[in-house]
Amino acid sequence: MEKLENVKAGAIDSVVFILDFQASIASGHLVHETKRFHDKYGPIVRLAPNELSFISPSAWQDIYGHRKRGHKEMTKNPIWAQPSPNGAFSLINCKEEDHARMWKPFVPAFSMRALKAQEEIIQGYVSMLMEKLKSRATSGDVVVDIKDYYNWTTFDIIGDLGFGEPFDCLQNEQYHQWVSFLFGHLIAGALLASVNFYPWIFKALLALVPKSAHQAALAHHAMSCDKAKRRMNLRTDRKDIFSHVLALNDEKGLTLPELEATAAIIILAGSESTSTMLTGTTNSLMRNPEKLSKLTDEVRSSFRKESNITLDALEQLTYLRAVFQEAFRLLPPVPTQIPRIVPPEGDTICGHFIPGNTFVGLPQYAAYRSTENFIHPSSFLPERWLPSDSPLFVPSSSDPAFDKTTFLNDNKGVVPPFSVGPRNCIGFNLAYAEMRLVLSRLLWNMDLEFPDTCGRKDDRLVFEEQKTYALWEREPFRAKLFWVR
Ligand code: HEM
Repeated sequence: MEKLENVKAGAIDSVVFILDFQASIASGHLVHETKRFHDKYGPIVRLAPNELSFISPSAWQDIYGHRKRGHKEMTKNPIWAQPSPNGAFSLINCKEEDHARMWKPFVPAFSMRALKAQEEIIQGYVSMLMEKLKSRATSGDVVVDIKDYYNWTTFDIIGDLGFGEPFDCLQNEQYHQWVSFLFGHLIAGALLASVNFYPWIFKALLALVPKSAHQAALAHHAMSCDKAKRRMNLRTDRKDIFSHVLALNDEKGLTLPELEATAAIIILAGSESTSTMLTGTTNSLMRNPEKLSKLTDEVRSSFRKESNITLDALEQLTYLRAVFQEAFRLLPPVPTQIPRIVPPEGDTICGHFIPGNTFVGLPQYAAYRSTENFIHPSSFLPERWLPSDSPLFVPSSSDPAFDKTTFLNDNKGVVPPFSVGPRNCIGFNLAYAEMRLVLSRLLWNMDLEFPDTCGRKDDRLVFEEQKTYALWEREPFRAKLFWVR
């Protein structure tokens, strides 16, 4: 690491440093600490003795991008990319040499063409969401925990689209037992990774990981295997995700244990990150009522009937697009660094030669909120994503002042929330489809505001203060609904 001696550490003394880093992972505050270090020390910081963090736009290509001739891929960090309880790797954490073989059968299932065929199913769940919220809003029981409704919707959609069976969360307005295992699984993953850093004391540290976290991870895996097996035995001509995969998979594709491990990832990735994004976006809008009303106006003036709100039609809504871009920037659903390792011979990142086997990553939360990359980084300003001659490019009364030149130097290229390169997100079309349909139909039908606190402690959710274990751990988000139709 001699060439990196001028890279500042998050903490100076090495023992304190290690403990600090592990404690940040285990306590769910690594994301906040990483941002603090970058704010203090600049665009490259040392997070742990062998771990560097970068927040400049070129780090995306240098760490995650397709390789140029003569450069090896920066591989997934095995501390985080562990096999499933059945010993197999899933698509998301498999080794680079296995990736193309495992990825190919999934590609058609996530294409735009497949998505068009799936729109009716997604719309069906969004209609059920509207019915449930309407019945709450019109029955006097108007304060809801909106993150639950989002989570139920995305979980039901991935159950149905992925495996041909919904989980009936929306129908019953209740969590399926599985959802509680999902977050337990993530916490277990983060805690296990934090102890994996120190293999020589792994066994002793392993004892500190709560039994409930291990059990949640095992239960999530067992249920996913069961779901995948049931889907494989189901005779149906529905065009769900597994129909494409099963049609293409052969002896050169995924093994059964790999398919089961990937089923577990699809359920987790396909539900948690999209509902997190919807929760974060709604929270940002409610905390900025003028932006909320600007988006509501765009949605209501664009559609005469709710049935006109289709994926094709939503493509035309410029403010909706800008709102999601800004919400991705302010509250990225994957806020931590996505961990990679520099190949043994070393390589260059952001103009610096980095020695082989160094752990590296770009933490989205720290990068997107840095003054190195954005002006007014903590403000929710969808306008920064609009052309300055757009009629919507007008500040709200509570915005910091801006004009046509204000955002010209923003590093917008630093925000690819689904990552880049060969391991980027396969589900981004599906995620965008769900986000657009849910938020636009919600705003078409109802007004939202924070409930009165009636003198009690202010319990309005501040999304970014929540803990993270790879994804955000979501706290209650109470919203008051007014049905306007
Ligand atoms: C807002 C929603 C979402 C965000 C922000 C997101 C973000 C990401 C990111 C950053 C990665 C790269 C991870 C890495 O390199 O280690 C990834 C990979 C992946 N995501 Fe998503 N995701 C979202 C929704 C979805 C959905 C809806 C699905 C599927 C139903 C999905 C399935 C996957 C899979 C299977 C991978 C691994 C791809 C591979 O390695 O080839 N994601 N996602």
